[in-house]
Amino acid sequence: MQKSVRLKSFELIAQDINSVDVSLLHALSTGVGWPHRLKDWEFLRRAGHGIVAVDGIGRVFGSAMWFPHGDDFATIGLVITSPRTQAEGNGRWLMQQVFEHCGDRKLALNSTIAAHKLYVSLGFTAEATVYQYQGEVAAALPALPSLDGELSELSPDKIEEIFALDTFAFGTNRDRLLTLLSEGASICVLRRNGATVGYSMCREFGRGHVVGPVVASNDRDAIHLAAVHLKDLAGQFARVDTREKGPFADFLQQSRLAISETVTTMSKGRPFLNREANEPAVYGLAGHALS
Ligand SMILES: CC(C)(COP(=O)(O)OP(=O)(O)OC[C@H]1O[C@@H](n2cnc3c(N)ncnc32)[C@H](O)[C@@H]1OP(=O)(O)O)[C@@H](O)C(=O)NCCC(=O)NCCS
Repeated sequence: MQKSVRLKSFELIAQDINSVDVSLLHALSTGVGWPHRLKDWEFLRRAGHGIVAVDGIGRVFGSAMWFPHGDDFATIGLVITSPRTQAEGNGRWLMQQVFEHCGDRKLALNSTIAAHKLYVSLGFTAEATVYQYQGEVAAALPALPSLDGELSELSPDKIEEIFALDTFAFGTNRDRLLTLLSEGASICVLRRNGATVGYSMCREFGRGHVVGPVVASNDRDAIHLAAVHLKDLAGQFARVDTREKGPFADFLQQSRLAISETVTTMSKGRPFLNREANEPAVYGLAGHALS
């Protein structure tokens, strides 16, 4: 596979994403209007793998990351090319490198509008819309439905409790990622009749906090699992990424979060989403890159 590419005005080579200073990645994402902080990039580099497109004097003109889960699946994210080099083949070249690294893995990603045509041409199929809800959380949350079960805080050293539930909902074991996320997160679990039936995490990200993942079997449980974090964030900036359109989305809107962007969940190799009614499902995403 081609390890260098000549664009109109630049000769770029592919390097491991860990070989560059994190401030260069931060500048890249800021340049396309993304909210990632230095810390968010540091976390993503720990959680996954990536490459950067670098010129002869070390300037970074593109990035792409992949996050393997188990033996045969990965999510892709942080696919960015600097505005100066867009529409010159950089994005396609970076994705071809990602394919080479991922081998036979089945793939999923959340595509922006800008990238949609590229991913379709690379064999990805659209599955669902993701709504990015965000804003300053209302001082008082809307009235909540009655709670069925008990909500408790979960210490990160007990994170194993949610692994089986999450694997069912996500469709693939992502224990390592959950362990990493738990290090900086506040975690809540919902137990009913002695079983763990839902959980949610909340962590700092971008402009404020992200509530996600949120895994639950029904809207009512999901609302409680999101509310437990949002009530502590009254007046602060929060974000929830969801594929929901029903009561969970209504609750987010009533909490004063509004849709700021939509992206499209796409997969390659096999369908990624396989939700069954009343079975555990992902109501809130860990993040666009993490699905
Ligand atoms: C999406 C993005 C990575 C594409 O990178 P790029 O370097 O422009 O990609 P390429 O030049 O390889 O173009 C790939 C395809 O995208 C399409 N495309 C790119 N720029 C386009 C433009 N300005 N108008 C129309 N189509 C365009 C073309 O179909 C092109 O296909 P082709 O190879 O047959 O011509 C880049 O626009 C970007 O960083 N956007 C902001 C961040 C973002 O949205 N990232 C995607 C996250 S999922």
